[in-house]
Amino acid sequence: MLLELKGVKKVYRNGEAAFPALKGVDLRVAEGEMLAVMGPSGSGKSTLLQILGLLDRPTEGEYLLLGRPTAGLSEEERAYLRNRFIGFVFQAFFLLPRLTAVENVEVPLAYAGVPPRERRRRALALLERVGLLERAGSLPNQLSGGQRQRVAIARARALRPPLLLADEPTGALDTRTGEEILDLFGELNREGTTVIVVTHEAGVAERTRRIVRVRDGAIVADEGRG
Ligand SMILES: Nc1ncnc2c1ncn2[C@@H]1O[C@H](COP(=O)(O)OP(=O)(O)OP(=O)(O)O)[C@@H](O)[C@H]1O
Ligand SMILES: [Mg+2]
Repeated sequence: MLLELKGVKKVYRNGEAAFPALKGVDLRVAEGEMLAVMGPSGSGKSTLLQILGLLDRPTEGEYLLLGRPTAGLSEEERAYLRNRFIGFVFQAFFLLPRLTAVENVEVPLAYAGVPPRERRRRALALLERVGLLERAGSLPNQLSGGQRQRVAIARARALRPPLLLADEPTGALDTRTGEEILDLFGELNREGTTVIVVTHEAGVAERTRRIVRVRDGAIVADEGRG
């Protein structure tokens, strides 16, 4: 199993108030799967993704990544795993506004210590892969929403993480552009990347065999599991 949640609960605390956002989630995802997470607003989808992405910790329960428990990991170890194993794509693309498309894709490569010329070569190849080679020199505000999201996907792919997590990557896009982004995830999945995507896109069912439905902090259906 690439990842496994066992009885995961998440309680958000604000002073006296406590809000149970996940109420005991069990989930197993094998390497190479692609699954969509769907559910109403506030049902816990982003919370679930943040736990899977080691951006947050469960209040209770277990999260195993590559068969190993994550509970005892230090912040440093979690950061290392995030960088090496997990690519993130969010609804708001989080591109650096003063950097060009190719420079944005180079950021994780720079952090990983890849030398400048190799960085540029790899970043251009990644942009080509998402069909944006000719826009490599554009700043984010010179790109359409769909193009920005493709830059964000290229950046998320830069260190070839085996797991790609996307939180409503199509949320800011029109339906057709959103479906193109989902097609791109499908391609990356066929190349071996495990993809977990939170989406409202109705067309997602045709692209992912497995759909996990979340409601009120719990998984209420897990359709098409392999
Ligand atoms: N930091 C926080 N403190 C308190 N409550 C929170 C916090 N983050 C999220 N919540 C609550 O937890 C619940 C689940 O939130 P979450 O963001 O996971 O929902 P979601 O399914 O992603 O919703 P959406 O589709 O609107 O993005 C919501 O009721 C939300 O208000
Ligand atoms: Mg959300």
